[in-house]
Order: sequence, then structure tokens, then C-alpha cells
Amino acid sequence: MKHEKILILGACGQIGVELTLALRKLYGESNVFATDIREEHELLRGTGPYSVLDAMDGAAITEFIKKEGVTQVYLLAALLSATGEKNPKKAWDINMQSLLQLLDISVQEKLNKIYWPSSIAIFGATTPKQGTAQKTIVEPGTVYGISKYAGELWCQYYNARWGVDVRSLRYPGLISWKSAPGGGTTDYAVEIYYEALKEQKYTSFLSEDTYLPMMYMDDAIRGTIELMEAPAEQIKSRMSYNFAGMSFSPKELTEAIKQHIPEFSISYEPDYRQQIANGWPQSIDDTAARSDWGWKHEFDIEKMTDEMLKNLAVKLQLA
Ligand code: SER
Repeated sequence: MKHEKILILGACGQIGVELTLALRKLYGESNVFATDIREEHELLRGTGPYSVLDAMDGAAITEFIKKEGVTQVYLLAALLSATGEKNPKKAWDINMQSLLQLLDISVQEKLNKIYWPSSIAIFGATTPKQGTAQKTIVEPGTVYGISKYAGELWCQYYNARWGVDVRSLRYPGLISWKSAPGGGTTDYAVEIYYEALKEQKYTSFLSEDTYLPMMYMDDAIRGTIELMEAPAEQIKSRMSYNFAGMSFSPKELTEAIKQHIPEFSISYEPDYRQQIANGWPQSIDDTAARSDWGWKHEFDIEKMTDEMLKNLAVKLQLA
């Protein structure tokens, strides 16, 4: 068993639930402290310690770290792209303040490592859309993307100036069946599976040919842990790493689902999220992650669709 005490802020979100469960397997359940402002997620119950802790409350976080001897923190609390556009100032405050505060705490409390996620949302309409490079034109068009790019720069700054071992990934759209996404532009790719099983039809809020980078959650969790476990000298980027699995459109995802549910049908009613998606890359070049610390994805659209439909059918008691 590895000797770390890990604090997770935002443990009840889409990534937090599965990451907490995976880290508990690796580090021992009593060494991974799940926290959120919400009620404990049902899948976390009975799997280890849970506390209510606000990612914005620096004093409470510092006290928690001292009391429990925390050595690593994962900051997963954030407002995502679609929610952020409804309340830009709030998204900026939450996404930036929680990070800046944690970077300071990390220096003061001499944490071993911190993890903070970035996103494909840092890229914008002027970024080349195909095979988007690690370093390219970056002019984000959403407040979420602005906050993530500014955050990446702050991470790099704290690493250079104070030696903070902060690590980060630019997540694509994440697809999972255990925990629900919240407020993202890529959420259609999760909703579609629920509706395919329950109603055999789905109305997409993105148009049929909207290609976006996506990843199955199992890959995302494994990649996150591999990044965090890699020797520090392999982490050559202290901004955030491009991180890719697959790319597809709603139309292609529909075809993959139809292999299992032939009667499934889709219609399209693009809304404000279409404009957000139009500003994002269609595919990502993650060569740096692959060469620096050995990233390799496993799931393609077919393998993911098998897993999603199989597991959701059980969860929804349709199997
Ligand atoms: N899934 C996120 C979103 O759509 C991308 O980081 O906001």
C-alpha cells in the first residue's frame, strides 16, 4: 500500500466519484478523504471517509489538511462550460479562487502533489480543429475555457516559482455510467445512452456532424492516476497535457448505438451549446502525454458503447 493521505475536493461529481473509488483501491480506503458541498454520493457510501467541505473555504481546507496529515489534494470542484455561460462571473470566481487558494495552501503546507483538471475548452474558434497540438493558438471563447487556461498558467507559475508539484490534464468530453455529468457541452454523449435504453429515441442539443474529442471514464481515471504516479522528471509540461481517446459526432454515436438497439432514432435541436462546441477542436494530438509519461487509451466508440449499454441496462433495471 502506498503511503499518501489524499484529499478530494468535489468528490461527488462525474470524475470525483470514480476517482475516489479508484484511489481508495490503490491507497487504502481510510487514506482517501472524499469531500464535497453536496450530500455523499450513493456510490461512495460505506467506501471510506466522507466530509462536507467547500472548495472555496481555504481556512477549512487548511485545517482539514493539518488535522488529517493530508499529502496530496485533487481539486475537482468547478462550473463547466454550459453552466458557466449562464453565470460567467460565478464560474470565474469558483474556478479561479479555488485553484489559487489551493496553490497557496500547497506551498504553506508543503503538499507532495496536487491535481487540477483542465479541458479542451481552453481552445477556441481560432485554434486549428484537427489534431490540435499541445502548443497552438489558444483563445478560449467561454468563461470556463478562460478560467482553465488562466489556471494552467498559474499552475506553471507556482511550479516554476515555488516548486509546487501540480499536474493536470485537458480532459475531453467524459462518458460514464456510474456518476452523472453536470453542465457540460459534451453531456449529450452520456444522456443519449440513457434515452436509448429508456425511450429508444433522443433529441440532441448538438447537430449531427458536431465532432468533439471524447473519452470513456475508465481511460480518464487510469490516465489521471498514471500521470499522478509518474516520476516528477517525466512531467515536462506544467501547463496541462492534451489527453485524447476518441472523436465522434452525434450521428456516429447513433450508428454505434443502433448496432445494439436497431430501433433507436435521433433528432436534432441544437441550442446555445452548439456555439460552444463549434469553438472547440474536433480531435486532439496528445503525443506529449504519450511520450512523456506513457499515456495510451484503450476505449474506442464500439468498446465504450458495449460497456455503457451493458452497465446502464443493469443500473436502470432494464436488463
Ligand atoms: N465536458 C466539458 C464540458 O463540456 C469539457 O471540459 O464543459
